[in-house]
Amino acid sequence: MQTVNTVETLREAVESLRRTGKIAFVPTMGALHEGHLTLVREAQKRADHVVVSIFVNPTQFGPNEDLDAYPRRMEEDSRLLDAEGTALLWAPDAAEMYPQGFATNISVSGVSEHFCGGARPGHFDGVATVVCKLFNQVRPDMALFGEKDWQQLAVIRRMARDLDLSRPHVDAIIGVPTVREADGLAMSSRNQYLSSEDRQAAATLPRAMRTAVAEILAGQPAEKALVTLETALLAAGFSSIDYASLADAQTLEVIDRPGSEPARLLVAARIGSTRLIDNVAVA
Ligand code: PAF
Repeated sequence: MQTVNTVETLREAVESLRRTGKIAFVPTMGALHEGHLTLVREAQKRADHVVVSIFVNPTQFGPNEDLDAYPRRMEEDSRLLDAEGTALLWAPDAAEMYPQGFATNISVSGVSEHFCGGARPGHFDGVATVVCKLFNQVRPDMALFGEKDWQQLAVIRRMARDLDLSRPHVDAIIGVPTVREADGLAMSSRNQYLSSEDRQAAATLPRAMRTAVAEILAGQPAEKALVTLETALLAAGFSSIDYASLADAQTLEVIDRPGSEPARLLVAARIGSTRLIDNVAVA
């Protein structure tokens, strides 16, 4: 695996890979877990070469968020990616990504405004801007993202559609189903912040979500099913719930019952000092 740290060397390396086949791109912030490695494996199946980026993007963290504490494990991540057969690791530093005078912001309205966008102002501007840059730097044939960050995926697809991106085209932005621990907790780099007590209690989140989905599909209005879900989370030791909503899977508009379009249940809740997010299809 080749590792590059500047846009110039990235371009050369990507162009040389492109001569021998299709490129799939997996953007990450590192601290890789099985969820990321699943994206890499899925990328291997779909393309000839896999490019992975590791960049802890400061602009998507709020002033009181965990940017400094966010786990950084470049050596270990690098070994894992190499073992998976990754062709190229793109690991710029902040000065390379945001050179002196950087002044551009991509803001996707609508789909980014509620849920995590409401709880984390500016977060999706940071995500959309860095992902647009990463796409322009790597210019992949396709890009893969975990469905765990469902709203992020919706924002990126909207941005790619609205800006007529061609590498990757919006149809080549692929969502990969969430990878879960044995007890159902969605894998996340932030799970390692949980104390063992909180880690046990965290498994209530996917369980309560499954129950809510069953209730909604049985005809209960979402509002009622979500009160039950919130009560279960608080009883298990969660300290607060940022949101728990049923939404149109694509537009993320809140709905009370699933209709003809795919629906998604989305939740963000805090346990200890950790904020967990999850989402499931309501089908
Ligand atoms: O999901 C992530 O890890 C990040 O939000 C992303 C897409 C790499 C952008 O920084």
